[in-house]
Amino acid sequence: MTKRILIDADPGIDDALAILLALASPELNLEGITIVPGNCSSQDGSRNARKVLQLAGASQIPVARGVERPLVQPLVIASETHGPTGLGYAKTPEPTQAEDARHGVDFLIEQAMSAPGEYTLVAIGPLTNLALALRREPRLATAFAQVIHMGGAIHTSGNVTPQAEFNVWCDPHATHMVYHAGLPLTVVPLDVTYQCVLMQKHVDHLLQFKSPVSRFIAGTTRFYIEFHNEYQDIDGCIINDPLALALAFAPELVTCQEIFVDVDIAGGVSMGKTFGYFYKMGQGAPNAQVALAVKPEVFLDLFVDRMEVLCRKYPD
Ligand code: RIB
Ligand code: CA
Repeated sequence: MTKRILIDADPGIDDALAILLALASPELNLEGITIVPGNCSSQDGSRNARKVLQLAGASQIPVARGVERPLVQPLVIASETHGPTGLGYAKTPEPTQAEDARHGVDFLIEQAMSAPGEYTLVAIGPLTNLALALRREPRLATAFAQVIHMGGAIHTSGNVTPQAEFNVWCDPHATHMVYHAGLPLTVVPLDVTYQCVLMQKHVDHLLQFKSPVSRFIAGTTRFYIEFHNEYQDIDGCIINDPLALALAFAPELVTCQEIFVDVDIAGGVSMGKTFGYFYKMGQGAPNAQVALAVKPEVFLDLFVDRMEVLCRKYPD
């Protein structure tokens, strides 16, 4: 039985790789992508998502653009990380598929409420769309089978400030609304994603297969690896979003702890910091399964193997 999934993303290089992983995973049925700004504008994100779907023969999957900016914070685009339009150095044909006519917030509500308890939402960008959807339709809090959020940093440094991870920092108020909504929430923080380093050797392996897919992966990751080298002295690039996506079909890749996780919206130096309650401190019932350990090599092998399948499926 395939799992029905929706993705809310800010594509974005690792978002694009997560979309490719979803398309390469027979366990999943990707039924829609909603777009939120963060790595790039929502206009660029919408075009990028449709480019990636087209690359993998999946142009029939609807892409619905959501909000144009965070709830309260100004929009800050991560162009130094993902490039001026969000896909690094990749060169891909313009998409022939148009955006879905619905707003991303309405799309999320309509899809989830059409099949209560069936959809898994993989949220790999700032949570603005989901937060507004929850306010527009409160029943959404119990309509998803699972919500997997790539975001936060619990025991480890942030990646946009020492305290905060990018998706949460972009829209901490939306994150607060989502984390306090009573969703069946799994949080995938930097604690586990920063152990998942895609290296040039992995990309070179895929380039053996002459395909627009392997060239796309090489073009996007070349920019992403340059960023990680220059800004974080990492020999490779962190594929945050593909790990979150993979948990939709391979939850055994991580070990979670069921805790209460919250986010700082007070402002100041720790704006967007996420923190977990590991002791009884009057915080009430846990609100999330938080992934705090991962099998990085198992995941990287799975990711590269499935990208290879996609490259072989779409040869030159
Ligand atoms: O902090 C990493 C997250 O922020 C990833 O989802 C990346 O795509 C950016 O959105
Ligand atoms: Ca993302």
